[in-house]
Amino acid sequence: MRAMSRDTVLSPSNFVLPLFLQEGEGQRTPIKSMPGQFRLSVDLAVELAREAFGLGVPAVDLFPALADDVKDPRGSESVNPQGLMQRAIRALKRELPELVVCTDVALDPYSSDGHDGVVIDGRIDNDVTLPILAAMAVSHAEAGADVVAPSDMMDGRVRAIREALDDAGHDQVSILSYCVKYASCFYGPFREALDSAPKSGDKKTYQMDPANYREVEREVRLDEAEGADILMVKPGLPYLDIVAKVRSLSSLPVAVYHVSGEYSMLKVAAERGLLDYERGLLESLTCLRRAGADIIFTYGAIDAARLLAARK
Ligand code: PBG
Repeated sequence: MRAMSRDTVLSPSNFVLPLFLQEGEGQRTPIKSMPGQFRLSVDLAVELAREAFGLGVPAVDLFPALADDVKDPRGSESVNPQGLMQRAIRALKRELPELVVCTDVALDPYSSDGHDGVVIDGRIDNDVTLPILAAMAVSHAEAGADVVAPSDMMDGRVRAIREALDDAGHDQVSILSYCVKYASCFYGPFREALDSAPKSGDKKTYQMDPANYREVEREVRLDEAEGADILMVKPGLPYLDIVAKVRSLSSLPVAVYHVSGEYSMLKVAAERGLLDYERGLLESLTCLRRAGADIIFTYGAIDAARLLAARK
């Protein structure tokens, strides 16, 4: 009775697995701030993606962890055709052609300032950043990315990326826009994973104020008009009202990011015996779906896919 009258269905086909990449071969470095998560060299990232895909998870999202000596103020490594990101995209599409490969588009993994945009005289320069993001997206598309996911929150970047992709003949590549992204402390563990914390200041001049609700409609309308294919809300659980609002404002698919802090809270609470990780994970993901998300980015994608398979 419970199953037949349930209105929210959670399936591995809703999940996107974020992957942290590192250089080397056979390398697997635990991320201390995120128990159970690793930085992986490209060969092992392909193996984990294969496992996820086999469990019914259709997509991965890529984040490169780079050495400081390739970082600079304009993130020039981000368009290197032989860069870590580009090599990973090619390997994944070669080995798993049906896997949807999404890539993160933002400056922070490549920037010596640790910001998502270019820092000039201590300020983030929105407009100087746009062509850099557009070139990064084209470089990912050239390597074979199916979806580019700008997470930077610069204004106007969806249009800049759409135009650059179309001009380069990549009209089939989709844009998953981090449309409503708040300046949140829940990204803390992720910044350790990539060693990408801002060197100075914070991200409040481009990420949204957690207290704001009215601004959501403006962000949605702008990204729709600029050509976004999927709209993302981030973080997840503290922002269920925002997920529901974006769902009601737009007919585009809605994605939500169950972020590093949300994942690590579950893991660490479970390690301390305070709650059950597996039940906490499935409950969290179900609630994100109930609020209106079609797609969930989660570090628990493989765990949840396994649990759902075992339930049947
Ligand atoms: C930055 C980016 C962040 C995340 C995804 N892309 C961190 C930030 O904005 O500082 C966070 C993901 C997570 O916490 O899981 N472009």
